[in-house]
Amino acid sequence: MTNSGGHAHTTPAHGDDGEPAPDAATFWESRYRESDRAWSGRANAALERETALLAPGTALDLGSGEGGDALWLAHNGWSVTAVDIAPTALARGEAIAQAEGLVDRIRWICADLATWQPAGPFDLVTAHFLQSPVELPREVILRRAAATVAPGGTLLVVGHAEFPPWSQHKPDESSLPSADEVLASLELTAEHWTIRTKAAVSRSATGPDGQIVDLVDSVLALRRTVVV
Ligand SMILES: C[S@@+](CC[C@H](N)C(=O)[O-])C[C@H]1O[C@@H](n2cnc3c(N)ncnc32)[C@H](O)[C@@H]1O
Repeated sequence: MTNSGGHAHTTPAHGDDGEPAPDAATFWESRYRESDRAWSGRANAALERETALLAPGTALDLGSGEGGDALWLAHNGWSVTAVDIAPTALARGEAIAQAEGLVDRIRWICADLATWQPAGPFDLVTAHFLQSPVELPREVILRRAAATVAPGGTLLVVGHAEFPPWSQHKPDESSLPSADEVLASLELTAEHWTIRTKAAVSRSATGPDGQIVDLVDSVLALRRTVVV
C-alpha cells in the first residue's frame, strides 16, 4: 500500500466513550488534516504489477486518497478519474499533478462513493484499500463500478487481508474479505469475466516506528470479456 505509517488502522471508528462514529466525510477529511501527508505517494505495487501489460486508456480510481496511483497511471499514459471523499487528499494529488504537468490527464472528483454514479465505460477500474473504519458500502460501490468496466477492460480490487501488527484497532478480521469473498460479493456473470489474479499476496511495509513487516493483501484482477 502507499501507506507511509499505517495510521488508517490506528484510528478507531469511535472511542469506547459511546460517542457515535463520525460520518465518512468528516472522518477522512480530519484524518488527512492530521498530517502533511498520509501515504508514501508511491503507486501500489499491485497496480504496477497488474497493469504492466495493459495498453493505457481510461481509468477510474476509487478512493484515490492523495493520488499516488492516479499520478502513476497518468505518468504511464492513462486518462484518470480519481474519486475520493476527502478534499484535502484530492488537493494534494492535484498539486502534484500541476507540478508534474499532468493536469490534463487526471480529473479529481470529491464525492461520496456511496452515492456517486460513475460515468463509464473505463478501461481500468481500480480500488486499492477502499476500506474504512466508518460506514462504507464497499460491496455496493464495487458492484456499481464493475458495471462501468469496458469490454476488454480490467477491474482491480486490492484490500487488506489482515491488519498490521501495530494496529490499535482490531475489529473482527473476518471483516477483511479474501479475494474469493470479494469476487463472490461482486455477483458477476462468470462467462463475462476472466480471472487474471485471485490471490493473497504478501508485501513488505514500514510501520510507524520504522519497523519492516510483511503484510498480506487480497488481490483480485478481472478482465471483462469482449462479446463479439
Ligand atoms: C485506506 S485509504 C486508501 C487510499 C489510496 N487508495 C491508497 O491506496 O493509498 C481509503 C480512501 O478511501 C476514501 N474513502 C473512504 N470512504 C469513502 C467514500 N464513502 N467515498 C469516497 N472515498 C472514500 C478515503 O478518503 C481514503 O482516501
